[in-house]
Amino acid sequence: MAEPPGSCQEVDIAAVARLYDAMAGEYAGRYGDDLRPGSGDRAFLEVALESARADGPVLDLGCGPGQIAAIAASWGLPAIGVDVSLNMLAVARRRVPQATFIAGDARALPLASRSCRAVAAFYWFHHVPRPLLPAVLAEARRVLRPGGTLVIAAHLGAGERWVTKESESLRVTLYGRDELAGHVRDAGFDVESVGTRVPRPDEFQAEHGFLRARLA
Ligand SMILES: C[S@@+](CC[C@H](N)C(=O)[O-])C[C@H]1O[C@@H](n2cnc3c(N)ncnc32)[C@H](O)[C@@H]1O
Repeated sequence: MAEPPGSCQEVDIAAVARLYDAMAGEYAGRYGDDLRPGSGDRAFLEVALESARADGPVLDLGCGPGQIAAIAASWGLPAIGVDVSLNMLAVARRRVPQATFIAGDARALPLASRSCRAVAAFYWFHHVPRPLLPAVLAEARRVLRPGGTLVIAAHLGAGERWVTKESESLRVTLYGRDELAGHVRDAGFDVESVGTRVPRPDEFQAEHGFLRARLA
């Protein structure tokens, strides 16, 4: 079978937006409560964001239905969600009316420099081809205040895979755990912790990685 067009140097961000626009409601129903109290991902996030609980804002980057923004808002913190999918943003606004949701691409964030206390990016780095990851991390660094926290959850692995869903064929990139940590260090962060867990049967079948880092 011929490969769909595209290059591993690029991301077809319009296709990413179309995919999540098409599945926004279903995605929220399936994964919207993944960060409920007691879940492993929630425990990781709570520890990782401990230092941000005094102030904020917390940026839920690639927010989808806004699960992280919801938690930050429940702590009384200002929360901002950014996503390329307008339908995901509409779902997030309904679920978390206290937070602010803005359309934007992680490669060029519509936010002022040093405006966030924490940036949390959960489960979308597979949409960032290797050559683009430094630019994404540089943007996270730009919007963080000194001492700010970066929290990442990602599907781990190696190489790239083609995934076809909702009539969209997308090339996804899987980063190795040490590879991801190396990129985060190269972007100027101190990596404080890296962990992994096995995926649940209903999740994307790749090891899940969790990384916490601080901007010096
Ligand atoms: C698998 S969902 C994850 C949503 C949520 N963070 C979670 O943990 O369930 C991936 C989300 O990332 C968004 N996304 C992918 N690439 C992005 C980019 N470059 N900038 C902003 N959002 C992006 C997608 O539109 C989608 O809503």
